Amino acid sequence: MAPHQPVLLEAALAFLAPRRGGRYVDGTVGGGGHAAALLAAVGGDAQLLAIDRDPQALAVARRRLAPFGDRVHLVHGDFRDLERHLASLGWDRVDGILLDLGVSSMQLDDPSRGFSYQEEGPLDMRMDPGQPLTAADLVNTASRDQLARWLAEYGEERWAGRIADFIVEARRRRPITTTTELVEIVKAAIPARARRRGGHPARRTFQALRIAVNDELRGLEGFLRAAAQRLRPGGRLVVIAFHSLEDRAVKRAFRDLAAGEGFRLLTRKPVTPGEEEVRRNPRSRSAKLRALQRLAAGPAPAGGEPRTGAGARASPCDATR
Ligand SMILES: C[S@@+](CC[C@H](N)C(=O)[O-])C[C@H]1O[C@@H](n2cnc3c(N)ncnc32)[C@H](O)[C@@H]1O
Repeated sequence: MAPHQPVLLEAALAFLAPRRGGRYVDGTVGGGGHAAALLAAVGGDAQLLAIDRDPQALAVARRRLAPFGDRVHLVHGDFRDLERHLASLGWDRVDGILLDLGVSSMQLDDPSRGFSYQEEGPLDMRMDPGQPLTAADLVNTASRDQLARWLAEYGEERWAGRIADFIVEARRRRPITTTTELVEIVKAAIPARARRRGGHPARRTFQALRIAVNDELRGLEGFLRAAAQRLRPGGRLVVIAFHSLEDRAVKRAFRDLAAGEGFRLLTRKPVTPGEEEVRRNPRSRSAKLRALQRLAAGPAPAGGEPRTGAGARASPCDATR
């Protein structure tokens, strides 16, 4: 299985601007791509709290980050429990927090995880296999209207109502248990004319169910506001979002924080991957990176635009505060 390619890597590092001796959090460590680059870039004795809700991802990250020894603290859990994870290390404040949201290639490319509409597998989609509800549970028990809402809201699926109707009809005959069964139902629901446009017909349905199964949007905005308070003066919060609702939550939280005292936006507009990155890694195409900095107690530092990757489209920094 191909390793996950970290998205917007150079931009993420440029905005985190890690320093020797600093304490960092990677709330979505995945395969450890961003984490390894951060630790390698800073060297010395910087430490990293690396969190993931997927134990398989953590196992990969553990191997990848082994060369950094006890500078890395791996935790199986949800980044939304950051307070507890920090307390377990006795950390109060940190110098940087990175969230690279969504799903990893390792999860998408493993048919047994049920994330992929391209391959046959159980209809699972749990990032944390310890959580009780799978995609099959939702598909077979949620009301027609709830299914339609998820598909419309999380999948931005134009045919949400029709797909929900077809799911309800199909599950009357027998429970829907595999990815291919669901793909066939979605294909049957979307009129042939529309199926020829906009990529794989089941892509949006699978995205919507994945977000619902993992409750990915719950409390994100509130979490970001709280996490920002855990930054030391000068510390940075960097978030890479892949879905418009996610990005909207990040944008709102950052805007509100920067409107008050003590924070400034480092990205007025989100940073997106350049053509070269999208060509190399098509899964990066919807990525949007936003960054926020906690101001030092004294005068606001003069903001300069971090140098990002060759192709990345960086926005001007807000250096007005
Ligand atoms: C896009 S991948 C991260 C890839 C990583 N940056 C790398 O370079 O390999 C997202 C990861 O975040 C994890 N994840 C998603 N939501 C999470 C949450 N609320 N708490 C902890 N981990 C989460 C997923 O299990 C997945 O492994």
